[in-house]
Parts: sequence; C-alpha cells; structure tokens
Amino acid sequence: MNKSLVLGFTLLSFLLTACGAGATSVPTSETAAPVSSPTDTLVPTVELVPASAPTDAPAAVVSFANDVMPILQSRCINCHGGQDTKAGLSVASYNTLMAGSEHGPVVIAGDPANSLLIQSIQQGKMPKRGPKLTPDQLQILIDWIMAGALNN
Ligand code: HEC
Repeated sequence: MNKSLVLGFTLLSFLLTACGAGATSVPTSETAAPVSSPTDTLVPTVELVPASAPTDAPAAVVSFANDVMPILQSRCINCHGGQDTKAGLSVASYNTLMAGSEHGPVVIAGDPANSLLIQSIQQGKMPKRGPKLTPDQLQILIDWIMAGALNN
C-alpha cells in the first residue's frame, strides 16, 4: 500500500515538473517576433476609422444614462426638475420623464415626431431660456426615442 502511494506521488511530481518546464519554454521563444514594426501597423488602422464611421453611426446604441441624461441635465433641469417643474414636467430621472407633464406623456417610444419632448425643441420653444440644443444633441434624443426610449 505505502509503496504504491509513494510511487504514485513520485510519478505525479515528475510529470508536473516535466509539464512546467515544457510550458515556460514556449512563450519566451514566441514573444520576440511581433514587436518588430509598430509604425507600419498604425497607417491602415487610422485610415479605417473615418471610412467605417458613417455606416456605423445609425447602428450605434444610444444610452439614456450616458447620452440622453447629460443633455437634459445641462439644458432642461433648471426648469424641469429639482426646485422647479414647469408644466409638471421633471427630467430628473427616467421615471419622471416618462411620467410626462400635466398634459400627458412627452415621450412616445418609437415615435419621436409625435413626442412633445422633440416637438418643443424643434419648434424652438424649449429650452425656454439658455443655449439651444446642438443638432447633434437633438439627434441623440431622436435616436433614443426611435430605439424605444429604453432605460438603458
Ligand atoms: C427657463 C426655463 C425652461 C427651460 C430651461 C426649459 N423649459 Fe420646458 N417649459 C418651461 C415652461 C415655463 C413651460 C410651460 C409652457 C410654456 O410656458 O411655454 C415648459 C414646457 C415644456 C414642455 C411642454 C409640457 C406640456 O405638456 O405643456 C416640454 C415638452 C418641455 N418644456 C420640454 C423642455 C425640454 C426638453 C427642455 C430642455 C431642452 C426644456 N423644456 C427647458 C420652461 C423651461
């Protein structure tokens, strides 16, 4: 009994050290090769970015938290959230925004053209004071509603 156990451990430890020695020798021989030409690989990568950007744009996912909320916070929150909620509309959170104003919903998921949020900006009524939204910012709001006005 004892003899076979000892033999087993000896075999096991021999195999482990044999495998360990074999594994360490592999990466050292491979790492040297790809380091040689970093400047050559930069050229095609830079050219690919502007070429693929326009086709990628419509597929990009708009995030409520990362893209929509910062716009509302910077342009609308002074009058619609916190202290003041003009027309009963608060953009302080996803839930209050989707709850709408005293007249009803201002966001209709999938239908930006009929969403009061978009209409009020496009007609120049909102923001009532302060800098207007840029076309890019308006487009983000439109894309978000078009994609289903998700809490993403
Ligand atoms: C300086 C204050 C102010 C700012 C900033 C502002 N609003 Fe308003 N908003 C109002 C007032 C006041 C009303 C009530 C209607 C009116 O007087 O035109 C209103 C009404 C609205 C309504 C219509 C609600 C309804 O059912 O009648 C929407 C939608 C709206 N605002 C969206 C926005 C959005 C989106 C922004 C940011 C891009 C924004 N507002 C920024 C003051 C403001």
